[in-house]
Amino acid sequence: MADWWDADGRRHRKQFSSAPAAREHEHRETALAHAERASRELKLAARTGGGKRSQPKPETGTVEPAKGKLGVMIPGMGAVATTFVAGVEAIRKGLAKPIGSLTQMGTVRLGKRTDGRSPKVKEFVPLAGLDDLVFTGWDIFEDNMYDAASHAGVLDQRLLDQLKPFLSSVTPRSAVFDHNYVKKIDGPNVKKGKSKMDLAEQLRDDIREFKKSSGASRLITMWCGSTESYIEPTEAHQSLKAFEKALRENDEMIAPSMIYAYASLMEGVPFANGAPNLTVDLPVMLLLSRKNEAPVCGKDFKTGQTLMKTVLAPAFKARLLGLSGWYSTNILGNRDGEVLDDPGSFKTKEESKLGVLEHILQPGLYPELYGNMFHKVRINYYPPRGDNKEGWDNIDIFGWLGYPMQIKVDFLCRDSILAAPIVLDLVLFLDLAQRCSELKGLGIQEWLSFYFKSPMTVPGLYPEHDLFIQLMKLKNTLRHLKGEELITHLGLEYYD
Ligand SMILES: NC(=O)c1ccc[n+]([C@@H]2O[C@H](COP(=O)([O-])OP(=O)(O)OC[C@H]3O[C@@H](n4cnc5c(N)ncnc54)[C@H](O)[C@@H]3O)[C@@H](O)[C@H]2O)c1
Repeated sequence: MADWWDADGRRHRKQFSSAPAAREHEHRETALAHAERASRELKLAARTGGGKRSQPKPETGTVEPAKGKLGVMIPGMGAVATTFVAGVEAIRKGLAKPIGSLTQMGTVRLGKRTDGRSPKVKEFVPLAGLDDLVFTGWDIFEDNMYDAASHAGVLDQRLLDQLKPFLSSVTPRSAVFDHNYVKKIDGPNVKKGKSKMDLAEQLRDDIREFKKSSGASRLITMWCGSTESYIEPTEAHQSLKAFEKALRENDEMIAPSMIYAYASLMEGVPFANGAPNLTVDLPVMLLLSRKNEAPVCGKDFKTGQTLMKTVLAPAFKARLLGLSGWYSTNILGNRDGEVLDDPGSFKTKEESKLGVLEHILQPGLYPELYGNMFHKVRINYYPPRGDNKEGWDNIDIFGWLGYPMQIKVDFLCRDSILAAPIVLDLVLFLDLAQRCSELKGLGIQEWLSFYFKSPMTVPGLYPEHDLFIQLMKLKNTLRHLKGEELITHLGLEYYD
């Protein structure tokens, strides 16, 4: 038995005298259905570009090619910095793969889903190659990168030994440091100067010297130094005049990281902030960044627990599940953990970690779901674990009719293993920004929010924390720069 339609479109059940006749009819119907489907697909292809790929528009602005060496300057040659630099060298030598790096392994879809175009990010936009990276750093300790990496204990000693000649050649410049801002550590390799302005001048000399001696055509500064004590912006941070006066007068509200940021931006060098310190998140730095076309981004690398938070919280909001509490605690035993054991440094980190849920869940818009949530974050210094942090989350949610449920997350992660690819991507993307006519004068590079716990935005604009919105923003920025269609995921044209 099979169906048939009369000339007026009415459907009838067709009767067959024998099974073979019914089967033959089925075959004919199936062939007809295939032909109709093929014809529909041809029509769809015609509507979405005549069967051809969608055509890119002209590129937006200009992007200078990545010619010559890119100098990476790192204040803070600790666990993250050494894992990053050793990793780059291991990848260059073919000893390992750049897992976790969007610039090295990621792709970007272009045009329609039917176009089949998904080049690698690094082939789509002109990024510096890993072979072009050269490094320097500053630290309060005198250890070169090999010794510092061995001390950090993140990477296998056998791997470090294979990279020893290269890592030993990266030695720290003397640091601008103030013990009052990082109470748990102290070291001998520290600059002396009459004033904070004098120290800034010494850093500017370092930057010029490195550019000359390394032969780099472009530079980037990447703060991987310790988390400084919590402070809030004051008058001294509002304008260049006020800031420079404060530098000359040794104002205690100017933290060492700000002196590095000032020196970099004055030299026209982009600055990324991997810690939760204010550093470049200040009116004076934004002014300088725009004026000198030295892009900035920050703050606080989004690596373990907060990465998970910015994946799970959007899921709860998407399904309108309520949240009554989120308790997060960590144990870690590296130097970062020791520094964060100080209440001043912990407060800076806590502020950076706490903002995430408020911004994603928007309790103002959804008071019944998120108006009463309790959010707590703890970090406990526990030496036996070293860099291998364990982060626990207990999440109390509620669903239909208010019935409560719980989710537990236990993330046994490796802090610096998660941070290193972020550092690499930020180096390469910030360098792209400084070569791009449309991005270099913007100051804050919000499209790099994807990498940060507490993304910087222009004053008055709330940050996007949802990891997938951040990823879409990043990839759409790349498409926009290259004159490709932005991807909205609307997709109605496939069904029209
Ligand atoms: N590893 C992660 O997953 C992660 C995630 C987010 C943020 N961070 C932040 O990144 C930073 C680095 O983390 P880490 O694990 O490498 O810490 P670390 O303690 O191993 O390294 C920090 C280094 O900075 C140096 N330092 C401190 N003040 C300095 C100054 N003024 N000038 C020059 N050097 C200075 C210290 O001596 C130390 O060697 C920390 O602020 C940390 O909070 C790390």
